[in-house]
Amino acid sequence: MDKINNLHSLGGTNMIVTPIGLGCWQFSKQKNMAGKFWPTLEDDLIGKVVNLSLEGGINWFDTAEVYGNGASEKALSKALQAAGKKPGEVLIATKWWPMFRFASNISKTIDERIKALTPYPIDLYQVHQPWGFSNERSEVTAMAELLDRKLIKNIGVSNFSAQQMKNAWETLDKKGIPLASNQVMYNLLHRKIESNGIMEMAKKLGISIIAYSPLAQGLVTGKFHDNPELLKNIGLRKYSAKFKSKGLEKSRPLVMFIKELSLKYNVSPSQIALNWLINFHGNTVVAIPGATKEIHVKENAGAMSFRLSDEDMQRLDKESAMFK
Ligand SMILES: NC(=O)c1ccc[n+]([C@@H]2O[C@H](COP(=O)([O-])OP(=O)(O)OC[C@H]3O[C@@H](n4cnc5c(N)ncnc54)[C@H](OP(=O)(O)O)[C@@H]3O)[C@@H](O)[C@H]2O)c1
Repeated sequence: MDKINNLHSLGGTNMIVTPIGLGCWQFSKQKNMAGKFWPTLEDDLIGKVVNLSLEGGINWFDTAEVYGNGASEKALSKALQAAGKKPGEVLIATKWWPMFRFASNISKTIDERIKALTPYPIDLYQVHQPWGFSNERSEVTAMAELLDRKLIKNIGVSNFSAQQMKNAWETLDKKGIPLASNQVMYNLLHRKIESNGIMEMAKKLGISIIAYSPLAQGLVTGKFHDNPELLKNIGLRKYSAKFKSKGLEKSRPLVMFIKELSLKYNVSPSQIALNWLINFHGNTVVAIPGATKEIHVKENAGAMSFRLSDEDMQRLDKESAMFK
C-alpha cells in the first residue's frame, strides 16, 4: 500500500496513525536521568514543534513516564491544548517504566499518567522495556485490566525480543486483544531487528513496528559528518561508538549515498532516511523522529509526502545491509 498521506492501523487495531509520529523524549526538560539526554526545550519551542507537527499532517505523539518523570507528557498536553486540539482529535502513545517494579505497579501508577496527559486519553500504553521484576506475560495482563476498565485504548510493548513479543501477543490473543506494536530502535544505521527475528515475527503476527531513533539521533542526516564542530554539543550521545571518529567513518559511505538521493528527489537527507523506513516493509513500520528545532519537524513531517522509487529503496537496502 502506498502510504503517501495514508493512515496506518497499528497492529490491526482501530488506532489509525500517520506513518510519521512525533517522538517527545526531547520534551523531558532535564527533569531526571533520562531527561538529561537532550537540552531543555522551553514551552514556547515545544508549542512550535507540536504546531508544526500538526500542520505537517502528523496525528500522533509518543511520550513516556520516564521522559522527565512526566515532564514530557505534561508539556505535550499543554502544547496540544494551546493548539486547540480536543481530546480524540490527536492520538497519544505513552509508556510505563518497568525497572525495579512489579506488574502490579501498572494499575498503581495509571492515575498519574492520566493526570499528566489530561485531557487527552491514552490511545496506546506501552511497556517501555522488558527489564522489570515481573515477566512480560504478567505485564500485558495488567495492561489488559486497564483496557477492561477503559483507562487505556490499546496495548504495545517496547524493546521486546522476538520471543518476548510473541509471549505478550499470545497472552493478549487469548483474551481477544491485539498487541498493537513493538517500539524498537530501527534506522538505516541500525537494522538489527531484521537479523534477530523481531521484524519477521512482527510481520507474522501482524504487530506494527514503531521505529525509534529513526534518524540514528541525527547521524543519518550527515550533519555531524559535514560539521564535526556539532559533535561538541551532543550531550550523552558522545558516549555512543557511532558518534566517535571510527563510527563516523563507518557510516560515511551510506550517509553520502543518502545525500546523493536527497539531491535527486530534492528533499532533505532526513526525508530520504524516513521515507525508506516507512515504505520498505510495506505496512509494518511507522517512525517517531524527535525534534529540537522547528526545521527538524518541518522536514520530518515532509517525509510523508513523496515516495522513493522501488529501485532506490532496493539500493538503500543494499548500501545499508552491513548494519543488519
Ligand atoms: N522506547 C524506547 O526505549 C525509546 C528510546 C529512544 C527513543 N524513543 C522515542 O523515539 C523518539 C525518537 O528517537 P530519538 O530522539 O532517540 O532519535 P531520532 O529521532 O533519530 O533523533 C532525534 C534527533 O535528531 C536530530 N534531528 C531530528 N530531525 C532532524 C532533521 N530533520 N535534520 C537534522 N537533524 C535532525 C535532532 O538532534 P539535535 O537535537 O542534536 O539537533 C533530534 O534531537 C524519541 O523522542 C522517543 O519518543 C524511544
